[in-house]
Amino acid sequence: MPVKDTWKALGYIDEPVPEGIDLKAEIRRLCKKKNAVVLAHYYTIADLQDIADFVGDSLALAQKAAATDADIIVMCGVHFMAETDKILCPAKKVLIPDLNASCSLAESCPADAFAEFVAAHPGHKVISYVNTSAAVKAHTDVVVTSGNAREIVESFPKDQPLIFGPDKNLGNYINSLTGREMLLWDGACHVHERFSVEKLVALKREHPGAQVLVHPECRGAVVKLADVVGSTARLLRHAQESDCREFLVVTESGILHQMQRACPDKTFIPVPPEDAVDEAATEGSSAPAACACNECRYMRLCTLEKVYNTLRYEWPEVDVDPAVAARALRPIERMLDISRQLGL
Ligand code: 13P
Ligand code: SF4
Repeated sequence: MPVKDTWKALGYIDEPVPEGIDLKAEIRRLCKKKNAVVLAHYYTIADLQDIADFVGDSLALAQKAAATDADIIVMCGVHFMAETDKILCPAKKVLIPDLNASCSLAESCPADAFAEFVAAHPGHKVISYVNTSAAVKAHTDVVVTSGNAREIVESFPKDQPLIFGPDKNLGNYINSLTGREMLLWDGACHVHERFSVEKLVALKREHPGAQVLVHPECRGAVVKLADVVGSTARLLRHAQESDCREFLVVTESGILHQMQRACPDKTFIPVPPEDAVDEAATEGSSAPAACACNECRYMRLCTLEKVYNTLRYEWPEVDVDPAVAARALRPIERMLDISRQLGL
């Protein structure tokens, strides 16, 4: 079927799925028929994590894409992840179920402005978080994720001036760990910036035995309250390996699905964002109770219906301008090489 103008306008396929089908089984059938692989980030909805071939953090998703022999990659995550896959696998068809799945961090760093920032600081090496557009990666020496940022920063000589973008929170955290004074781009993630110190402190008081698991995209005041700081994969691994029975989880709440699945006898409590409405405050009100979870509105755009239609019609496809892709490939490959050498 040709791509309809209405789909183009929406950025996803809004065809109703045939009534009565087993959506999960149909997705698996289409994957087999088309030699497609479904990769999902930990922040996507639980149903998607359950049907994916692989669920992981940003680093593991890039590693998996680089290694797959599938003909089609369906990236259930956000746009920069699909771009990264396309850069690593130019001959493969890379699909994203909803083109609107952006990222507030990536958006906080327009390529032109970043290029000017880099040009204004000659002599600096440029480190970019993977949460950036391909065009920003093209102005970068090495890409990092939250799973390898510290090690990659430390791979540069101590006296090498560095630029780090776009996440100022992750950049500040890595500066504090390494003693570097990297120049930081002023960007942040709308999910991780919203965690409340007050709500976390109150929850710690209520659950004195709980360990606090924090993603480094959170603000410094929140990171200070952590028992463990790390990428989603690192936080999940800690939950599995720790003797502790109870955890306060300070990252996007999609990760709780894997934590609960891996550790059914442990308790995981999602820390709410600062604008979450207390249950007590809504008591007696006719308004629906507010969800206490902190969710990424972009990650949540991906649904089973959209994945099914994406596989069926092989659209929306993500392409990267070949000249940009050629320049962005080097810093991504450099990240993968360093990670491999370090066993990450
Ligand atoms: P990780 O997957 O590296 O933990 O990063 C979280 C994130 O915000 C992905 O967009
Ligand atoms: Fe981007 Fe934040 Fe969503 Fe991750 S959680 S994809 S950093 S907006």
